[in-house]
Amino acid sequence: MHNTNEILNLNNEYIPLVAQIMEIRKRGNTPLAYVRTYGCQQNVADSEQIKGLLGQMGYDFTENPEEADFILFNTCAVREHAEDRVFGNVGALKSLKRKHPSVLIALCGCMMEQKHIAERIYKSFPFVGLVFGTNCIHQLPKLMYDCLVDGKRLVFRGNDDTTVYENIPVKRDGTFKAWLPIMYGCDNFCTYCIVPYVRGRERSRNPEIIISQAKELIAKGYKEITLLGQNVNSYGKGLPTEDKMTFAQLISEIDKIDGEYILRFMTSHPKDCSKELIDTIAESRHISVHLHLPFQSGSDRILKQMNRRYDREKYLEIINYAKEKIPQLSLTSDIIVGFPGETYEDFKQTLSLVEEVGFTSLFTFIYSPRNGTPAAKMADPVSYEEKNRWFQELLSLQEKISAKRCADMVGKQYRVLVESINEKNNELQTRTSGNVIVEVQGDEGIIGTFQNVEVTSARNWILKGKII
Ligand code: SAH
Ligand code: SF4
Ligand code: F3S
Repeated sequence: MHNTNEILNLNNEYIPLVAQIMEIRKRGNTPLAYVRTYGCQQNVADSEQIKGLLGQMGYDFTENPEEADFILFNTCAVREHAEDRVFGNVGALKSLKRKHPSVLIALCGCMMEQKHIAERIYKSFPFVGLVFGTNCIHQLPKLMYDCLVDGKRLVFRGNDDTTVYENIPVKRDGTFKAWLPIMYGCDNFCTYCIVPYVRGRERSRNPEIIISQAKELIAKGYKEITLLGQNVNSYGKGLPTEDKMTFAQLISEIDKIDGEYILRFMTSHPKDCSKELIDTIAESRHISVHLHLPFQSGSDRILKQMNRRYDREKYLEIINYAKEKIPQLSLTSDIIVGFPGETYEDFKQTLSLVEEVGFTSLFTFIYSPRNGTPAAKMADPVSYEEKNRWFQELLSLQEKISAKRCADMVGKQYRVLVESINEKNNELQTRTSGNVIVEVQGDEGIIGTFQNVEVTSARNWILKGKII
């Protein structure tokens, strides 16, 4: 185990060395890196640290892998589909490496923390020079140095170090929206999920560092900060006594910072979602009126098999409390269809919960077996085709609910953050505090500002509005 200072010293040594090597090896005027990120916001935030380190090593960034000196895929392992995409895209780099032998191709992220995948990559893709896992980003300069100097292939993974390394530089993708990780890893071991195996044990960052980084972002003009963790509600567990803080206390401390910004967070786990948290949101000045609270299944029998540690009644109790305290509340959720042993009767419980709660939108997934998880060993008699029919039934129910919720927004006014321009119709995309997109006419110059809009029409879940 290292401490943060040792890592800083190590990086101070290796960063200039890599920069020197790349000064000679670069193909163009400056060394160029192409970084592609798959998966969730946690990976996006990791890539921002990786880019921070690459920037210190003298790299500039490109969207075109053809001209890069360093190509990195930061991968996701959550479902088979995510992994298949990575395998396909890595395979396609073979001809590029043949054309430009000096390019260093690297893979990192959650997929690499599965032994069988790392081995398959090593065997099938000899042109991949470096593989590193989720817990060794802070060591990137040394790893790159070793690869570049020796020209040897390097696999560095399976590191179960739970030290939280601070002071890693960050190069943010956004200029007014920022990701701020508050914790890493997960201890929940939901039986279907690979995340605890590939991200390691849950650990929280020091609250003072988080709060001061939030202050810094707001002072720099960031308008939206999203706090990240696999289960933000259990933030603070394991912190030394003098730093102890709950998630509700943390967001209420951040909320005290003056400025024009919105504070979001994800993801919440229903088993740890406290009334204290709901009260904090209700009383806050900056926290969004949006709660993403994945319930996965509406059947108590399946929730038990999933090891989720709450039941339908507990879930509804939080939801109803939140709806009462936060009148504008917008709810979203994740759902898995076709967990091993799920019957149509179980699935109907999911449908009825969706109907009862009235979500703004849903992230729905067909169960995908993950090697090494308990669920992958459970009997799974229902065919994929059947699961897909259930899945379609869920989608069409939610479409109706979303359409109704959108129609209810017509004629009402909302404060929105203007995010981007939709190239297809030249309209500005804006987002409400409840995390709903409203398209408006307006000048590109107001991207990154808050505006008030009135929703003028709704077609299914596409909302149009005007700035007032
Ligand atoms: N920590 C977050 C979720 C991270 S993964 C939470 O607990 O809410 C994001 C979503 O992917 C999960 O909520 C779940 O709905 C889905 N998911 C995870 N593993 C899956 C699997 N094996 N098959 C299908 N969906 C899965
Ligand atoms: Fe996976 Fe469950 Fe952890 Fe979420 S809480 S990351 S679903 S194990
Ligand atoms: Fe995927 Fe890893 Fe996130 S598995 S969903 S990138 S934590």
